[in-house]
Amino acid sequence: MGRPAAGAIALLCYLGLSAAIQWLGLAGSGVAWNESQHCRLLVPEQLQLCRRHLEVMPSIVRAARRTQQLCQQSFADMRWNCSSIQRAPSFGPDLLTGTREAAFVHALAAAAVAQGIARSCASGELPRCSCGPGPAEPPAPGSRWGGCGDNLSHGLQLGAAFTDGSARAGTGGTPGLRAVNRHNGAVGRAVLSDSLDTRCKCHGVSGSCSVKTCWKGLPDLGEIASDLKSRYLAALKVTHRLMGPRKQLITKEGDARPVTEMDLVYLISSPDYCTPNPQLGSLGTQDRPCNRSSVGSDSCDLLCCGRGYNTYTEEVQERCHCRYRWCCSVVCRRCRRSLERHVCK
Ligand SMILES: *[C@@H]1O[C@H](CO)[C@@H](O)[C@H](O)[C@H]1NC(C)=O
Ligand SMILES: *[C@@H]1O[C@H](CO)[C@@H](O)[C@H](O)[C@H]1NC(C)=O
Ligand SMILES: *[C@@H]1O[C@H](CO)[C@@H](O)[C@H](O)[C@H]1NC(C)=O
Ligand SMILES: *[C@@H]1O[C@H](CO)[C@@H](O)[C@H](O)[C@H]1NC(C)=O
Repeated sequence: MGRPAAGAIALLCYLGLSAAIQWLGLAGSGVAWNESQHCRLLVPEQLQLCRRHLEVMPSIVRAARRTQQLCQQSFADMRWNCSSIQRAPSFGPDLLTGTREAAFVHALAAAAVAQGIARSCASGELPRCSCGPGPAEPPAPGSRWGGCGDNLSHGLQLGAAFTDGSARAGTGGTPGLRAVNRHNGAVGRAVLSDSLDTRCKCHGVSGSCSVKTCWKGLPDLGEIASDLKSRYLAALKVTHRLMGPRKQLITKEGDARPVTEMDLVYLISSPDYCTPNPQLGSLGTQDRPCNRSSVGSDSCDLLCCGRGYNTYTEEVQERCHCRYRWCCSVVCRRCRRSLERHVCK
C-alpha cells in the first residue's frame, strides 16, 4: 500500500481529525462519486480503499445518509436526539469521545456500510463481487436456492476495511478509544450477520406456491438500528487495561459481566444532556416538544428534566364533514380544532 498524498494529510490535519466516523460527512455529497473531490474527505487508510474501490463509494455515501437518518429517528424521543450527527465531519465531544452515544453511532455506521455493500453486490451494481452460488446447506423441502442473495461476506470484509480504516491508521484518538470504536463497529457487523435470513418467493400456477425459490437476505437497516438501540441501553462501561500480554477492554469494577462480542461498550459516562454544555457536547432540552401523556423518555417529566413545560394552544384547520357528491367529487368543510403543545422550559 502506497503512502497517502501529502495534500490529503494537510487537509486532515486542518480538519483536526480524530473521529473514526468522520466519513459520515459524505452524507452531504452527491452519489455521483468524484475521486478528486471526495476521496480526500477520508483518512489515509480509507483514501487508499476509496481510490482502489471507487465503485463502492456510492454505497458508502448512501450508508452515511441512512446512518444519520436512522440515528435521529431512533433517538427522536430522547434527551440526546442525535441532531449533532449532522455536524459530520466535525463532530462535538458527544461523538468524539468514548460515550455510549458514540458507541451506538459507530455500530450503526459499520452495519450500514456492510449492509450497503452486500446489497449492492446482489443488485449487480459492483463489478467485483456477485451474489455467487447459494448456501451449502440443503434448502427447505419443496424449495430450491435461487435468486441472488445479499453478499454478506463481501460486505463484512470490505465494510470492516473501510470503517476500521481510521482506527488502524492510528488517527482515531487514544489506544483505548480506538479499541472501543473497533469493538463497537464489530458489534454492528455481528448484529447484521445474525440477521441474515432465508427469504422465499412463490411460483407455480395461480400462486399455488408449488415451487419456492429462496435466498439469503438482510433485513432493512431500521431493524438493525432498533436492535442496536436496545444494546445502547444495556451498554457496558469499560477500561482499556493490561490483562496478561495485551491490553483488553474490561468492565469496570462492580459490573461482573464479561464483555462479549454483542455488547456495546463505552469509556466515559455521558452527561444527562439536560442543560447546554459545549464542553460535553450537550445541547440541553429547552424548547423540545414533550408528550404529557407519555410515561417514556419523551414524557414532559423526563425530557424536561423536572424543569416543567410551557403549554401552547395551536389552531389547526382540517377538512371535515366530507360528503360524496354525485358525480364524482368529495366536498368538505373546513373546521378549526385547537391542539395543545407542550414545550420544555
Ligand atoms: C470533480 O470535481 C472537480 C472539482 O469540483 C472538478 O474540477 C472535476 O471536473 C470533477 N470531475 C468529474 C469527473 O466530475
Ligand atoms: C460474494 O462475492 C465474492 C466476490 O465476487 C464471490 O467470490 C462470492 O462467491 C460471493 N459470495 C456469495 C455468498 O454470494
Ligand atoms: C434535537 O435537540 C436539539 C437540542 O434541544 C434541538 O435544537 C433540535 O431541534 C432537536 N431535533 C429534533 C429533530 O427534534
Ligand atoms: C403521547 O404519548 C401517548 C402515550 O404513549 C401516545 O399514545 C400519543 O400518541 C403520544 N402523542 C404524540 C403527539 O406523540
